[in-house]
Amino acid sequence: MTVRTVGVLGCGLMGSGIAQVAAAAGYRTIVREVNESTLQAGLDRIRRFLADGVARGKVTEDAQNKTLGNLTGTTNLGDLTECDIVIEAIVETLDEKRAIYQAVEAFVRPETIIASNTSSLCITELAAGTGRPHRFGGLHFFNPVPLMKLVEVIRALTTSDETNLALTSFATSLGKEPISAPDRPGFIVNRLLVPYLLDAVREYERGLGTIEDIDKGMKLGCGYPMGPFTLLDFVGLDTTYYIANIMFEEFREPRFAPPPLLKRMVLAGYHGRKTKRGFYTY
Ligand code: 3HC
Repeated sequence: MTVRTVGVLGCGLMGSGIAQVAAAAGYRTIVREVNESTLQAGLDRIRRFLADGVARGKVTEDAQNKTLGNLTGTTNLGDLTECDIVIEAIVETLDEKRAIYQAVEAFVRPETIIASNTSSLCITELAAGTGRPHRFGGLHFFNPVPLMKLVEVIRALTTSDETNLALTSFATSLGKEPISAPDRPGFIVNRLLVPYLLDAVREYERGLGTIEDIDKGMKLGCGYPMGPFTLLDFVGLDTTYYIANIMFEEFREPRFAPPPLLKRMVLAGYHGRKTKRGFYTY
């Protein structure tokens, strides 16, 4: 399958990163948001990231111009007609995802592949909500998308070999390293990462150490780029709490149960960097 045009649904943190790497890889990329102000905010994020990359000497001006030249923003799903692959990165709600797949399917060709960047929902359930369960799969990127090399490729029970291969080759063509992950909550990375983050909160509550010392310990003692509390603030406490609940519902294992402090911080609106307050204040 030859991919020329890529559609991205959602231009939030993940969607804008996915659109950026697709455009940078030379694909004609059309990113769709629900309204003009969220679209412009997402496109501005991409422009800032590229300008920052140029200032750091990591991105050439030519690459910056080519990336922006390949990218189009729209609020109209009808502009996705020519897409060979559509990657969905909208809110983590089953109903909203189902609704947008149905809406997109009214415009794209029958052979167009639809992939979800969901971090928590069941890929088989999402696939079953479309008219193309064989041409649907999971493509899970990591934040910040332009810098993180990994993409998890997830097969639904219904995903065809051809679609799985196309998604894997597509991830490679973006300069990413794909791995195959099972359609189970958390896939591979969050399945191991989330219990670690939850454990850090639980042990902090039990008096293991200060937030700063636990972070410093894991960063300098294990060479992790961020300590668990810095990473929780980065990923979002609400996001981690949401994923943990889905994992706990599926597996019923205590290691996936969100600790009381995490729940209360989420309820208080302390969601991390994006709300300027989490385990740290920004
Ligand atoms: N354009 C191009 N390159 C850039 C750039 C830009 N705008 N901004 C930074 N870079 C480059 C830097 O030049 C540097 O390159 P170098 O290593 O060759 O020198 C590299 O990217 C790192 O940048 P910085 O030095 O500015 O920043 P840090 O060293 O602090 O790294 C980080 C930032 C990459 C975010 C690092 O802290 C990290 O890896 N953190 C962990 C992130 C993580 O775990 N993400 C996954 C979260 S889980 C998830 O997403 C799944 C979801 O489902 C929850």
